[in-house]
Amino acid sequence: MTNSNHSATGRGVTIWLTGLSGAGKSTIADRLAEYLRRAGKRVEVLDGDVVRTNLSKGLGFSKEDRDTNIRRIGFVGKLLTRNGVTTIVAAISPYRDVRDEVRRDIGDFVEVYVHCPLEELSRRDVKGLYAKAMRGEIPNFTGVSDPYEEPLHPEVMVSTDRETPDESVGKVIAKLEELRYLEPKKAPAAARR
Ligand code: ADX
Repeated sequence: MTNSNHSATGRGVTIWLTGLSGAGKSTIADRLAEYLRRAGKRVEVLDGDVVRTNLSKGLGFSKEDRDTNIRRIGFVGKLLTRNGVTTIVAAISPYRDVRDEVRRDIGDFVEVYVHCPLEELSRRDVKGLYAKAMRGEIPNFTGVSDPYEEPLHPEVMVSTDRETPDESVGKVIAKLEELRYLEPKKAPAAARR
């Protein structure tokens, strides 16, 4: 099979956003996707909430089911990435071993830790899930009654309690440019001299 990971639109890459529910993964994914499409990239977003309504329908939140979910997302990410697509994943993906497994499998992989303290997440609580989890009504709720294993060496870390979404997106773009997955915006002539 031909591998078109060096097409006119550039090399494919999977940008993997990991972090707690409500931390801002989907917001960053959507804004980043918009930016990259404007820059001429072919982009797909694989969002945990959406994937769980189709590809992973019926899966729950045990470690086994989450690992299955992440492996499925990783499999699709690999197919897209090797065909030159910029793939943005937004999934809690709480377990380090499976994140590292999909990283090895995909190769062109940029891990972004979307960090936000639990205090702030339960203050925001957009879906009302933290209040419920803290009342003991949701077993295995990540960060409250289930583990979240922080990335040890993410390519990028963003702190959504201290940055605007655009600032967080800007950090990811800078890293993509540094790693040559994205052509740096041309500096003004004066700055290039
Ligand atoms: S993952 O762990 O398998 O990566 P994923 O990102 O697909 O999770 O789905 C997380 C979403 O499911 C959350 O944003 C939240 O809306 C919902 N959810 C429902 N139950 C749980 C739970 N026990 N833990 C975490 N998220 C849950």
